[in-house]
Amino acid sequence: MKLQLNNLINEEIIRSYQKDVTRINKMIDDKTGAGNDFLGWVDWPIDYDKAELNKILNDAKYVRENFDILVVCGIGGSYLGARAALEALNGLKSPDKMEIIFMGQTFSPNYVAQVLNYLKGKKFAINVISKSGTTTETSISFRLLKELLESQVGKEAARKAIYATTDKEKGALKTLCNKEGYATYVLPGNIGGRFSVLTAVGLFPLACAGIDIQAMLAGAAEARELYDNDDLKNNICYRYAITRDYLYRHNYPVELYVTYEPQMSQISEWLKQLFGESEGKEKKALFPASVTFSTDLHSLGQFIQDGSPIMFETILNVINPQLDVKIPHDDEDLDGLNYLQGKDLAFVNQKAFEGTLAAHTKDGGVPCNVFTIDKLDAKALGHLFYLFMRACAMSAYLLEINPFNQPGVEIYKKNMFHLLGKKGY
Ligand code: PA5
Repeated sequence: MKLQLNNLINEEIIRSYQKDVTRINKMIDDKTGAGNDFLGWVDWPIDYDKAELNKILNDAKYVRENFDILVVCGIGGSYLGARAALEALNGLKSPDKMEIIFMGQTFSPNYVAQVLNYLKGKKFAINVISKSGTTTETSISFRLLKELLESQVGKEAARKAIYATTDKEKGALKTLCNKEGYATYVLPGNIGGRFSVLTAVGLFPLACAGIDIQAMLAGAAEARELYDNDDLKNNICYRYAITRDYLYRHNYPVELYVTYEPQMSQISEWLKQLFGESEGKEKKALFPASVTFSTDLHSLGQFIQDGSPIMFETILNVINPQLDVKIPHDDEDLDGLNYLQGKDLAFVNQKAFEGTLAAHTKDGGVPCNVFTIDKLDAKALGHLFYLFMRACAMSAYLLEINPFNQPGVEIYKKNMFHLLGKKGY
């Protein structure tokens, strides 16, 4: 993995952050900063529960052999990472025999009704994921899914088709699991939702989808090894965190995550939650947004090129796609495409990237960071997840923000519960 920083940053600027980065890196390792109860993810790639990993692998094998569909029921940090990894690695039209459907991330009556209708008569298992066990979107969906499953296979068989990922000891979901005897995995108390993709939250559904979760953990361990230091010449994780801080303080309030692969757009959604929910406090922080090119070059491309100069780009450029196709020859060439005959789409996509990068940086004056990823496999993705989580902790601490709480998400819930007539609101 390589990182080319934007043209507004130079080595002198990077060096000016040395003292802060050294202090904060130590603070992350020694767990002395704000929110230090939630730093369990820092050493997780080597400290993870090995027995639980085996259980996940065995259960996932059973699910793959006995069901056609896994419905993953969760929201926010209990949803985005698994979806991001699943789509990035298996694609948007996965040929895998196991279908994964996400539910519990919305109140949408249309979506929920369609999923329930689709599941009727099908062999499905459920992975309900909620740390608190009380998240309303997830709880409503789970109640509906459980009812459907029990009506189709009976209560006893349903019990064997429900897998729950939740707190080790507390919460409504844990109580239900204890009562019903569902298989459970632990969302560790010292890891918050948006930092949990490498725990059972992400690993169980991904293993059910046939993804190599051990490679993913190995990639994260490799990243931990590479980025747990204050060497600002080589540590691309902290170089990236510095660039975010510097641009935020120099009138670039928006960071735009850019991919050239629709199947990576959910990685941008995961990044938006990671940075937005971790840093957006005390009236501070970058607003994380995202686009998928070249699709969005035909919509927001105009604004990025010529509109308000409020943003910088962080581009995830994957060189080698998992699949490719060649552009065929056509005798008549009425579409004028024969100049591309025999070329791979990956070649065209790379030229679109290069052309756009030049247009945005040189003509548009948009600062662009480029992460270059040779190939996005499970190991590279584990590496990427860890890199961004560590960059997020560094970046938030540079802003003097506690990255690990989310006080602002409670206010709408209180209003909604009041309007819904929940007791005590
Ligand atoms: O990152 C977070 O903490 C949140 O996005 C939570 O993951 C999300 O609200 C879901 O919470 P829970 O797992 O308790 O259902």
